[in-house]
Amino acid sequence: MYTAITDSTIKISIIGAAGGIGQSLTLLLKTQIHNLIPIGSNKVKKNHIHLALYDINSDAVNGVATDLSHIDTPVSLSSHSPNTENGIKDCLKDTDLIIISAGLPRKPGMTREDLFNKNASIISSLTDSIIEHCDLSKIFILVISNPVNSLVPVITKKFIKFDPTADVERRVMGVTKLDIVRASTFLHQFGINEGFEKRSSIMPSVPVIGGHSGETIIPLFSQSKIHPQLTNEQVDYLTKRVQCGGDEVVKAKNGQGSATLSMALAGYKVVAKFISLLSGQEDIIKAIFYISLLDHTKNEPICPGAKELMDTVDGLDFFSIPLTISAKGVHSIKYWIMDEMNDYEKDELLSACIPKLRENIKTGWDFIQD
Ligand code: NAD
Ligand code: LMR
Repeated sequence: MYTAITDSTIKISIIGAAGGIGQSLTLLLKTQIHNLIPIGSNKVKKNHIHLALYDINSDAVNGVATDLSHIDTPVSLSSHSPNTENGIKDCLKDTDLIIISAGLPRKPGMTREDLFNKNASIISSLTDSIIEHCDLSKIFILVISNPVNSLVPVITKKFIKFDPTADVERRVMGVTKLDIVRASTFLHQFGINEGFEKRSSIMPSVPVIGGHSGETIIPLFSQSKIHPQLTNEQVDYLTKRVQCGGDEVVKAKNGQGSATLSMALAGYKVVAKFISLLSGQEDIIKAIFYISLLDHTKNEPICPGAKELMDTVDGLDFFSIPLTISAKGVHSIKYWIMDEMNDYEKDELLSACIPKLRENIKTGWDFIQD
């Protein structure tokens, strides 16, 4: 099942690969991702994709990888667990992109914060493995596990403590894409239900900023080009639906976990962006991620636009925002999106987000001893 990693390989490591998200995401990657690398383009420097699957559930991950390996695409696979030779080391060695969906999902009645202690311990020990086995000068890490708002600070602080010069924090990103997918879906459905959507094949694009939990999620419906005529009540309804989108799925699954399929699709969309960067097709990609705004070692803004953003979010040092990414990591922040917010978004949504997000960030930061 294992294919040798060469200079033309993009290696993607999926941690938690046997879980609900992990299985659906690896299926999407195995079946679709190679289509994103055009054959014969001289911009492409890497044209082979390898998926390295890791999970502590050894039988499950081995089964998933074997099953996927029968799918007829040129994407290669390997399976790793504490029971395989070298364990997580072989999954992480030479990797370019690490996707972490390891950890507990919510059950009805729980908040994402309730997952913190258990998932922070998992993430913290995974970060130790990343430090031990990866080339810290190049890896990107995408954090799906919850609570994203606090786990990204946990990982960031661990890297800074290990090696302040490695500059990994500009390549650690919390995945908030599901909120963006939901905002687009709910707005589209709403338009059809209300009878003012005629072009049912066109999906609206709605930026969502802030964090990934309840009131920290700020959908900017005013910045969607479709349905600018929504009333305040309609925007309020849609905003609350996006903020509670995760709860809607947790409730419907009634104890059988949280969003997996929609999250896998959101994760696929995010990885697809990275393929154009890692294959050499693009030098810069645009995306929305939850990132550190501060280079905590130098106590300086992480990149152009970060200072302006921190000034508008009362000094928060982590935030989800449209940005550009180069091979070195976060490259610039589209801070002016904040100036384009309307009064409702600024006075109600951002005001409610800031104290909550500050608390979540502190929980994560304090988890790692100074
Ligand atoms: P799941 O329980 O189905 O899968 C989690 C997997 O992680 C399991 O296979 C488990 O064996 C594995 N695991 C646990 N500890 C591990 C470790 N130390 N190393 C490797 N693997 C380990 O859960 P799921 O539904 O896939 O959700 C995973 C996480 O993603 C949850 O924390 C959930 O809250 C979060 N989530 C985030 C978003 C988002 O938008 N960011 C969306 C949905 C779910
Ligand atoms: C989601 O938004 O669906 C995820 O964060 C999972 C959850 O617990 O809600």
